[in-house]
Order: sequence, then C-alpha cells, then structure tokens
Amino acid sequence: MIKDLKYYYNKAIKEGFCLGALNFSNMECLQGIVEGAKEMNSPIIISVSEGALKYMQEDYCIALSNIARKNKGVFLHLDHGKSFEICKKCVDIGFDSVMIDGSALSFQDNIKITKKVATYAHKKGVLVEGELGQITGIEDEVSNDISHYTDPIKAKEFVEKTGVDTLAVAIGTSHGAYKYNGDKTLKFDILKEIEKQLPNFPLVLHGASTVDESVIEKINSFGGDLKSANGIPKNLLKKAVKQHNIVKINTDTDLRLATTMKVREVLINNPKTIDPRDYLKLAREEVKTTTIKKIKELFFSKDKI
Ligand code: G3H
Ligand code: 13P
Ligand code: ZN
Repeated sequence: MIKDLKYYYNKAIKEGFCLGALNFSNMECLQGIVEGAKEMNSPIIISVSEGALKYMQEDYCIALSNIARKNKGVFLHLDHGKSFEICKKCVDIGFDSVMIDGSALSFQDNIKITKKVATYAHKKGVLVEGELGQITGIEDEVSNDISHYTDPIKAKEFVEKTGVDTLAVAIGTSHGAYKYNGDKTLKFDILKEIEKQLPNFPLVLHGASTVDESVIEKINSFGGDLKSANGIPKNLLKKAVKQHNIVKINTDTDLRLATTMKVREVLINNPKTIDPRDYLKLAREEVKTTTIKKIKELFFSKDKI
C-alpha cells in the first residue's frame, strides 16, 4: 500500500491523531525536524512558506527538502501560497501538498482561486489545502472577533465548490508568539458546527504553537524581551485532535523560539564564540528535542511509518 499524505490524513481522522506540519527556513531547522521525526518513527510534514522559499533561495530549499524526503513519511508542503503561480510552481516541482490561502479575498474570489489550484494540482496527484475565515497574527492588529471565524455553512459550500482535500479553519488560533490578550480558549462550538456540515472531512489548525513559558523565561533570562508572549494551551490542542477532525497542526513559532533560546544561551554563556557551528548545532538539537516532544504529546505517537 502507498502510504502517501492522503493515507495518513485518513488514518488520522479515524484514529484521533494528527500530523505535525513544521515550518523551516534554514538547514538546521529542517534537519532538526527530520531527525526528531525519524527518532519517533513518525510521519511529518515539512512546511515551507513563500517567505522561507525566498530566504533559503528556491534551488537550495528544494535540494535540501528532497534530501529530507528520502526518509519515509516526510512530506513537503507549501504553506500559505498566495497566488495560483506559486502553487503551480510547487506542484510542478513535485511538492506533496500545497496550500492556497485565499482567506483575505472575498468568498467568491477565494472559491475561484482555490478551485483553480485544486484542479491543476489534482491532475498531478498533489493535495490542496484551502483556508476559510481569518487566522490572524497580532502583527495584523486585528482581534479575533466573531467575523473572522470560519462560517460552517460557507465551509461546506467552499469544500464542495473547490474540491480541496483539507480545510484550514479559524477557531481562535493565531500566528506568532502573542496569541491571547484575555481568556485562552478555542471556539469548539464553531468547530462542531463545521464538522456537522462536513462530516469526516480533514481539517487543519494553523497558529497552533504552545509558546511554552519555560522557553520564554529562558529567552528573557538571556537578554530577550518577550514578556507577554503566550500560546495555545496543550489541552485545547489535544481536544481538537482527539475529539475533532483536526488532522494537521501547523507549528512555526515554537521552533523559532527553540532556535532563539539556544543561540542566545550559547552566545551569552560563551562571549568568545565566533564559529556559527557552535550555536547552530545546538539550535538544531533543540529543534529536534522540540519536535520529539510535540510528536509525543500531540502527533502520531502510536502510529509507525
Ligand atoms: O504561518 C506562517 C508561518 O509562520 C510562516 O511565516 O511567512 O514568516 O515564513 P513566514
Ligand atoms: P504558529 O505561529 O502558531 O507557530 O503557527 C504557524 C502556522 O500556522 C504556519 O502556517
Ligand atoms: Zn499558518
């Protein structure tokens, strides 16, 4: 049997697990993620944003990703593709999956662009993730009021009209290291309604970093200034995975924090250090540790590749 990404999404939905989609934007982070997944014998999605593709430079990024994909169960995904052209490019390169993020467009324009991507990608056997509702970041200076959550009725229409394989939903998560100003909650009532409209349909949670207090404290103790940083409580993420149809959880910020924590620690403790390998190898190890922790807590912990 071919154990492709679709196989794991189906399995995840049946068994109450999810796949971790972990963002990378340099070699050490990619290696840390893959090493962690290998050690746990777990499938993993390596996610690259448009910004990361530019930063790493496409050819380098693809070459490194393809080395990572030689490991069984490692899937390459385009995160938040904003145009048909970038999605097409990634489909043509041979990504396993692409996200077309038309969430900032009108409902009809979002349907139009998402359908166009899905039609193209499916001909080449590539999965497509769409987004409905708005998963904001604090930098957008937009608070998560009701108008940004995914509308369950529209979600059904969106999936039917576009043919997407998975749908990213807005239920109160947000991107970045500052997720809540007040109560730490997720809109499980909206999630339930979406699931009523779309039974057994695979859903995706973005902005799902936990922003652990111990990591923030350590970064601050080594000269950082992230005092009010906070993330999604683990128990809410567990509930979304175990009791709902969330099959993919996106995490970027926690890996950025892990890297930053280690680099700060090494440089502050060793002021004479000049060799980047001295701190980047420890940052890579920290990303691996974080990946393993997340796999144990949330992702495919029992399932083996
Ligand atoms: O969801 C967005 C990811 O965190 C990627 O962020 O565009 O800065 O690479 P980026
Ligand atoms: P975080 O900022 O919570 O890690 O979310 C990342 C994400 O959703 C990438 O698509
Ligand atoms: Zn995202």
